[in-house]
Formats: sequence, C-alpha cells, structure tokens
Amino acid sequence: LTSEQYGVKRLPFSHVSDSDIAFFEHLIPGRVITDPDELRLFNVDWLQSVRGCSKMLLRPRTAAEISEILRYCNKRKLAVNPQGGNTGLVGGSVPVFDEIIISTALMNQVISFNSVSGILVCQAGCILENLNQYLEELDFIMPLDLGAKGSCHIGGNVATNAGGLRLLRYGSLRGTVLGLEVVLADGSILNCLASLRKDNTGYDLKQLFIGSEGTLGIITAVSILCPRKPKSVNLVFLGCQSFSQVLGTFTTCKGMLGEILSAYEFMDDKCMKLVENHLKLSNPVTGNPFYILIETSGSNTVHDEEKLNNFLEHVMASGLVTDGTVATEDKKIKMLWSLRERITEALTHDGCVYKYDLSLPVERLYDLVIDTRARLGKTAKNVVGYGHLDGNLHLNITAESYSHSLLDAIEPFVYEWTAQYNGSISAEHGLGFKKKHYIQYSKPQEAVLLMQQVKAMLDPKGILNPYKTLPASS
Ligand code: FAD
Ligand code: MLT
Ligand code: ZN
Repeated sequence: LTSEQYGVKRLPFSHVSDSDIAFFEHLIPGRVITDPDELRLFNVDWLQSVRGCSKMLLRPRTAAEISEILRYCNKRKLAVNPQGGNTGLVGGSVPVFDEIIISTALMNQVISFNSVSGILVCQAGCILENLNQYLEELDFIMPLDLGAKGSCHIGGNVATNAGGLRLLRYGSLRGTVLGLEVVLADGSILNCLASLRKDNTGYDLKQLFIGSEGTLGIITAVSILCPRKPKSVNLVFLGCQSFSQVLGTFTTCKGMLGEILSAYEFMDDKCMKLVENHLKLSNPVTGNPFYILIETSGSNTVHDEEKLNNFLEHVMASGLVTDGTVATEDKKIKMLWSLRERITEALTHDGCVYKYDLSLPVERLYDLVIDTRARLGKTAKNVVGYGHLDGNLHLNITAESYSHSLLDAIEPFVYEWTAQYNGSISAEHGLGFKKKHYIQYSKPQEAVLLMQQVKAMLDPKGILNPYKTLPASS
C-alpha cells in the first residue's frame, strides 16, 4: 500500500532541493544516494507492505556527521527517516512520503569490549549477528537474539526495544542497555554512553530513546551488557496435545530446569504446515496440535543433561508431552531453531499477511487464536499462533489477497479482545506507521498526551520519523 491508500496527508515539510543535495554531497562525499533504482530497496519494508518515495538516502559514518545532517534538516524543515537493517514489522523503518532516509549501515564499528565486565560499546549500525560472532570468539554472546539477526542493526534493536528469543533468560534491552549516544533533532549530541551497572544520577534519559522508534533522536552508539557464552547448550523440540499442556510443561520446566532454562517458544500445527509447505523444512515430531522449543544454557554439560533428562522423563510420563527430539550438536540445534525462526518468512509465501503482536496473560495466550479463527471462518486462508511464553502471542492471518472487509473483521476485534485482558497491542514490534492509531487500547489518554509533549519538546518541528508511533496531537 502507498501512503495515499492509507489516507495520510503529507505534512508541510520542505522538499529536497538541488542545493540540499549539494550540501550533503559536500558533507559526506560519495555517500549521498539519489539514484531511483538504488533507492527502491530502502523505500519498501521487509514485509513489502508499505512503500515510501524518498529521493535521497544518506550514509553517515559518525555521530558528528549525523549531527551536521540533523542540524541542517531541522533548520530547513526537512523530514528524516532513520533506518537500520529495515527488518521492522510495523512500517516504521521506511518513509511514508519523501522523508530523507538516514541509514546507519556504515556505522558498523565496535568501539570497545571489556572482558571482565562483559560490556560492549559499539556503533549503532553493527549487525546483530556480526556482534554475536565477534563476542563468541571472546567467549561471550549478545543478550538478545532474533530471526532477523543477519540483517537488523543493534541501533534498530534498541530503537524498537526488540524482545526475541533470549528475553526469558537475559531480560529486555531496558535492563541490558547501559548507555546510549543519541543525536537529537536539532543536531546536539547527547552522550549518555555510560558503561556502569549502577548510576542513579538524575533521570535515566536513555530509557526515553529505547523503543522510541526513531521519533525522538537517532541512536548512534550503544553500550550493552553481554553474558558469557554458555559452555553447554541443549535444545528440545516437543509435541503437545493442547495449549494447556504447553502451559503445564512451561511451569514444570521452570521448576525442574530453573537456572539453565534459556528459551521457551511455542507454535501451532498450522505454523508447522507453513514452514513445511513453503520452505520445505521437515518436522521431526509430527501429529501434534502444538510444538514447543526449550533451550537450556549452562556451564556444565553433565549437570545440564542430567537435569534435562529428568525433566523429559517427567513430562513424558505425566502425559504433558507426547513426543520429542533432543539436539546437542550445532547442526541439529540450528535446524530445530529454523522451524521456529522462519515462520515469519513462511507466512510471506502464504499470501497477504495481517500481523498482530500481543502481550496477554499467559493462560489466555492461545484463546485469541481460537476466537479469531471462529470469527473469520473461511474468509481467512490461515489463522496461526506462535510466540514467546513470556506472554507474547504472534497472531497472524493470511489471505490470498488484501481485503478491506477481512481487515474490518479483524480490527478492532483483536485490539478490543486484547484490551479486555489489559494486554498490549504491541508486545515487541512497536507501533510504527501501522499501529499508531491503536495506542489507546493499551495506554490511557494522559499517557499519550505526555508522550506527545515529550515529542514536541525534543523535536518541535516534528522532523524525526513523522507519521509514526504517536497519533497527531489535537
Ligand atoms: P529498522 O527496521 O531499520 O527500523 C525499525 C525502527 O527503528 C524504525 O522506526 C526506525 O526509524 C528506527 N531506527 C532504526 N535505527 C535507528 C537508530 N539508529 N536510531 C533511531 N531510530 C532507529 N522483533 C522482535 O522484537 N522480536 C523478534 O523475535 C523479531 N523477529 C523478527 C524476525 C524476522 C524474520 C523479522 C523480519 C523481523 C523480526 N523482528 C523481531 C522485528 C525487527 O527485526 C526488529 O524490530 C528489529 O529490532 C529492527 O531492527 P532494524 O535494524 O532492522 O531496524
Ligand atoms: C518472531 O517471534 O518470530 C518475531 O517477532 C517475528 C514475527 O512476529 O513474525
Ligand atoms: Zn517475536
């Protein structure tokens, strides 16, 4: 869809002129892209669901360059769109109209790593998987992991407060990010790049930028606390007959695996069919309505395996789990993870995807999938549920093609359903362009108003990622 189809009007920002292009060419020679063919890829999101028409992409290398860029754009009232790996799922990472794209792709340097404290300081454009590989050689890992790791940037991860597969063990970025360097709309550089575990000097300003989706400032560097690389990793893939067994297995494994539990993911059989049919992956444990992936990470192989075996014996004997397979070697671990991580990709091969990312009380998590399926009947091709057992359901609906009446049947139903249980209409993907009008389902009016005031204070001309995250203030 284009912005016109969404019914959004362009705000009165300046248009990029020849003298603007000349200014940027002088500032960052050879790193100003205006070729329409080259720009195409950066104007469309990963899902290919929203498309902008930016005429210029800038590739700065330093915070000082971003500072000069924003100072100029703010003066000229030119709107900008910060972009990392462009893997965002809510249309926040691409321009809506002709906003200038500021890419962090060339800001990919590690600044420092302290192997005693485990604190990594790096530029915002480092790709998550590259950081993880860098750390693994030093016997550490990143505290977050997600299916988009090969493309997403750490700056984008922080800007979206990405959750992902390791949150259960290492917590959210709100805890592991220790400091940020951010360039504000007027070009000033805010250096909060502390590398301290404890720092109670005034307000914790970095939290404002974590999850702000490029609307309050451009993150240029990140300081993050990284755990040691676990010596022993095991992964089990199990089949369950009902969602209540998925929950029963979860509480059992929290009790029996305790400190070595590092991930607990679930998916329904319809997800499995999608990865089998569209990606030709094979399911090692067929014939179940639900599947779970449990990862353990610890420091002692013998101890971990003994614990895991006791747990498996228990859940099999008690009938919580019907069947399963265990992986200890790297190749099989990767293969099993891909069954879960590649659901997002498989869905894109199934037709038009309606994506929902909800936080709900864990015991209610799958009820929404059942109710949505019943409501939509044959008007949807597939209604699937998967997610993270930290209370995060990914409800996805596919259809052969886009249909307004199907959308009307889904929304606001899904949001109202979520709000009645005090859930969140965006657990980890953010609001971006697509969800900003639904914020009131999860936040009171006073909170939205305060957010708008913070935005107006930090970016009075509204040049940073306009049309995103917050509804326009009245
Ligand atoms: P982009 O997509 O480029 O940008 C996302 C938002 O952040 C935009 O609003 C953009 O303007 C802003 N932004 C980017 N960089 C900066 C910066 N330096 N400063 C300020 N603002 C910036 N998300 C999860 O939470 N958990 C998952 O498990 C997960 N799995 C995924 C799996 C797949 C296959 C895909 C395609 C996506 C997945 N996502 C997941 C969503 C997405 O990968 C994350 O939101 C990711 O953090 C985005 O990073 P990015 O660098 O691609 O950012
Ligand atoms: C996931 O958990 O797989 C991601 O958040 C992506 C998605 O929701 O599809
Ligand atoms: Zn997710």
